[in-house]
Amino acid sequence: MPAPDNTIDVATLFDLTGKTALVTGGSRGIGKMIAEGYLQAGATVFISSRKAAVCDTVAAELSSLGPCHSLPADLANDADRARLVAALAERTDRLHILVNNAGAAWGAPYETFPEDGFRKVLELNLTALFFLTRDLTALLSAGATLDDPARVINIGSMDGLKVATVLQTGTFPYSASKAAVHHMTKALALELAPRHITANAIAPGFFESKMTEGSLDRFRGDIERNCPLGRIGRPEEMAGIAIYLASRAGAYTNGAVIPVDGGTSVT
Ligand SMILES: NC(=O)c1ccc[n+]([C@@H]2O[C@H](COP(=O)([O-])OP(=O)(O)OC[C@H]3O[C@@H](n4cnc5c(N)ncnc54)[C@H](OP(=O)(O)O)[C@@H]3O)[C@@H](O)[C@H]2O)c1
Repeated sequence: MPAPDNTIDVATLFDLTGKTALVTGGSRGIGKMIAEGYLQAGATVFISSRKAAVCDTVAAELSSLGPCHSLPADLANDADRARLVAALAERTDRLHILVNNAGAAWGAPYETFPEDGFRKVLELNLTALFFLTRDLTALLSAGATLDDPARVINIGSMDGLKVATVLQTGTFPYSASKAAVHHMTKALALELAPRHITANAIAPGFFESKMTEGSLDRFRGDIERNCPLGRIGRPEEMAGIAIYLASRAGAYTNGAVIPVDGGTSVT
């Protein structure tokens, strides 16, 4: 709820106490950074990923920070996604924050780019994101108010803002899927605003994760030189933007695509 009388109360501005969040792909990398941040800000967090044992272990580990629960699912599988929605609805009657973070990348030369890799990336990064959001809309609107809307936070990429050049490998479906996520975020913002749900996207630059491990091993110097700030992002910088968007501080931000890339996308 907002501070009374339009006053500014920074002590509680970023507080997520009483909020429930689902972070897809929360078992590692950027999703885990966000889950950790939300738990420290006071939220109850559900994390989801395909490998059930890993998801369970990470949720148990994160429970030292606050209530964290594992709901494993393959989001690219329609039946599994429906199972996740049903399982979440059994555990909570409202969802305040949905972080659509699970994603995959595929790099290959133009001439030999595999069709199954192309489809796989679009299926998870774009199609699954839309249908999970749609199917969780009832749960999101259940706890949403004009003053304190529910939040959909999509993880896009700076690659969806600007064509990447540092990796020297084509990532055609990946960058196209992320540009589509950015654009769809704006369409969702319009669709969902009357239901008191905002939709925003974060467009990260490089952060350490399994997805970026190989690229950082091979091209770290190029990646850092390509960034005006000369370095990759830190976990707190991802947690920070995600907490902002989920908290009272971000309640009026809607339809935004926020680069968190040290300025790389404006070069
Ligand atoms: N790291 C970066 O520098 C960077 C930059 C820009 C954008 N991003 C975006 O940030 C998001 C997270 O990336 P990351 O770097 O943290 O990647 P990551 O380390 O590979 O983590 C991906 C997460 O998604 C889960 N996942 C993968 N496929 C899934 C599926 N079909 N269903 C459910 N969960 C699935 C993974 O767990 P399982 O394998 O067990 O399913 C894991 O928890 C992605 O959308 C990525 O495009 C990352």
